[in-house]
This record gives sequence, structure tokens and C-alpha cells, in this order.
Amino acid sequence: MQQTVDVIIVGGGVIGCSIAYHLSARGIRVRVLERNRIASEASGAAAGMLAAQAEFIESAPLFEFARHSRAMFPALAADLKERSGIEIGLVQQGLLRIATCEQDVIRYHAQAAIQQQWGEATQWLSAVEAKEMEKALGSDVYGALYLEQDHQVMAPSLTQSYAKAASDLGADICEHTEVYELIREGGKVVGVRTQDGTHYCHHVIIASSIWSQFLLRSIGYDLPLYPVKGECIAVKTNTPLIRKTIYTDDCYIVPKANGELLIGATVTPHTYNRQVTVGGILALMDVAERLIPSIRGAEWSRTWSGLRPKTPHGMPYIGRHPQLDGLMIAAGHYRNGILLSPLTGIVIADLIEEKEPVADLSAFQIPSMRWTKEHQMTGVRS
Ligand code: FAD
Ligand code: GLY
Repeated sequence: MQQTVDVIIVGGGVIGCSIAYHLSARGIRVRVLERNRIASEASGAAAGMLAAQAEFIESAPLFEFARHSRAMFPALAADLKERSGIEIGLVQQGLLRIATCEQDVIRYHAQAAIQQQWGEATQWLSAVEAKEMEKALGSDVYGALYLEQDHQVMAPSLTQSYAKAASDLGADICEHTEVYELIREGGKVVGVRTQDGTHYCHHVIIASSIWSQFLLRSIGYDLPLYPVKGECIAVKTNTPLIRKTIYTDDCYIVPKANGELLIGATVTPHTYNRQVTVGGILALMDVAERLIPSIRGAEWSRTWSGLRPKTPHGMPYIGRHPQLDGLMIAAGHYRNGILLSPLTGIVIADLIEEKEPVADLSAFQIPSMRWTKEHQMTGVRS
């Protein structure tokens, strides 16, 4: 049997590591249990865009949460650098959401109007103005929305930096430690079982992405989540082709702090198969080359894929389990877990400290469960 800690976090992706960092910074004793390595799944695959405006145009609760989270990055980058020594590669150049047809132009004007009502900076650029801003853009451009606050970071570095800072603040970061069962006593979750033994704690936080559902089934709870595969490419150029992220619905090109151009990403729901396919790469390169024709001369670097965790309603689950004490869930951040990670860490830390969370979580509640007969026990709130 292992030592009791205040909080056990299952999953060493960006969500679990942000929670670990924020809890450790508040002096709470935390243990992260990761079955593989830190950032070995989606958080190591992500493009790192902080695309609150480009990706949340029609969802008010998520947009509110996203822009609050996005605003934390400049201070977070400095704090994490100081505490962990790791640069998270924050590039503050904004994003151009490119219109590639007349319908896009109409749609983006309407979206710009909504965002301006919400107080966000959006600027419509004609095709000529867009090409003045980014000279490598090709001729398929009908104009662009300039979203000057949608910056970007290096997602794997951000995740590693949260984990290192948490560890330096006293958290146990246990890699190669798979949690295979939750321990429930009546209406309370009191710990977890791993291959190395049993860990008891006051709170268990499930931050294991799509795999959260398999773990929760160990206590008879079915949490709807499914994977959406994304494939990516990185290329290198001798001189930078672009400074801002170039974004369309089919493909984005992100000029990373390490000099690579990250081209992403395909969207394939309901598969756990992480093969990078020729079809996926050709589709991305086709759009990328039309957006930036000179990308043809770039040097091939690498390809990879990752699984985004999606919920049926598209909102993440963030908060306390409505029926089981001692259990919280932070999963299902789909295309935006990097962007949403600082505020997710903070609100979960608020809940653990029994403070009013700094953001409204009503849209992200954990669904109630119907217990299977096999797991029906007394003491569970229904
Ligand atoms: P993960 O990073 O998947 O971490 C979950 C961890 O839990 C894994 O390490 C896993 O090994 C571990 N685990 C699972 N089961 C267990 C168990 N039983 N015991 C112990 N450990 C377990 N987001 C953005 O904000 N901006 C972007 O530009 C962006 N681009 C993306 C591009 C691609 C191609 C992809 C795939 C995703 C992108 N995302 C982006 C989304 C983002 O990557 C995810 O939302 C985020 O990484 C989810 O973080 P997580 O910690 O929930 O999951
Ligand atoms: N947010 C970018 C992606 O998920 O591909």
C-alpha cells in the first residue's frame, strides 16, 4: 500500500498536468499517475493554437471560458519558465482566418460582427491587405479575419513545463503507472488501484481523455466520450515563410517557435487507429500549398497523429461528479485542450479548495448516471 495524498490525478496530459501545477502552487499534495509518459498522447500531438476566436465563433459558454483562459498565457509563460526552466514557445503574432471563397467572406463578416459585440479585436482584411500582412499567401485568398489575440505555444513543452513545475513544488509525477480501477466505498471514491499497488486519497481527478470512460466503467458509470483522430505534418524552411498562423476550416499552418511550420490537421471521428495515412497527408498538403505556394520548397520533417477527446455536445466535462463524493472529472476538451488548460487547472483547484470557481462551469457539468444493478450500492446520491 502506498502513502495517502490529498489528490490523485489520473492522466499526464496537458489537463492533468495543469491541474497538478495549480494545486501544487496552492500547497496541496498531489500525485499524477500516467500510464505512459507525460504528453505522450493528444497533448504531445497538438498544434498549440490558442484559437479562442477562430474556433469558438458560435458557442457562448465555451467562448467565454476560452478567452479567459487565453488571456492567462503571457503571465503563465513567464511563471512556468521561472519555476520549471522550460520555455513554452509562446508566439504572440495572432492568426489570419483565411476566406477561400465568396461564402467565407459573408460568413466571416457575420462572425466578426458577433465577436466585436463580445468585445474582441477582429479586423477584416481584403485579399490585398492580407497579402501585405503575409507576403507568402497565394492567389486563392478572398480576404481574411485578422485575430490578433489568437496566439500559439509549443503544446508538448507546455505540458512538460506544467509537470516539471508541479514536481518542483512537491507533486509526485509517476510515469508508466496505469490506473486500472477506482476504489469506491459507498457514495465516495477513496483511491485507485495500479499495477504497483493501491493509492488512497481525499480526491480523485480523472483527466485521462477518452480513456476516462473505460476507467469510470470500473465503478459502473458510462461517460460518453469518443476519439477524433488528427494527423499533422512538420516542415522546415531556411527563412521563415510566415509569422502568423494561417487558418482555414480544412487546414492550418502554424509557424512554431522552433522554426518548424506545423501543418494540421485531419478530423476523423470514432477511431483509435493512429496510423498516419497518405490520404490524410495529401489532403493537408493540397490545401497548404494553395494557401502558401512556396511551401513546396520546404524540407520534409515528420508526421504524427493524436486523438482528440470529444463529448457528444462538444463541451468538456469539468467539475465534481454529481453523485459520488471525492470524484472530479476534467476531460473532453476536444480541439482546444491546450488553450483551455490554464483555466481548467485553476477551476479544479478552486473546487478542491471549496472556493467559488473563478469561471462559470454550468455548461460543463458532469452528467448524472444510472447505476447498473451490479454496481448499485447504498450511499450514492441519485
Ligand atoms: P491527453 O493529452 O490525451 O492525456 C491523457 C493522458 O491520460 C494520456 O497521457 C494517457 O496516457 C493517460 N491515461 C489514459 N488512461 C490512463 C489510465 N488508466 N491510467 C493512467 N493514465 C492514463 N488544442 C488546442 O488548444 N490547440 C490546438 O492547436 C490543438 N491542436 C490539436 C491538433 C491535433 C492533431 C490534436 C490531436 C489535438 C489538438 N488539440 C489542440 C487538442 C488537444 O491536444 C487536446 O484537447 C488536449 O491535449 C487534451 O488533453 P488531455 O490531457 O485531456 O488528454
Ligand atoms: N485545434 C486544432 C485541432 O484540433 O486540430
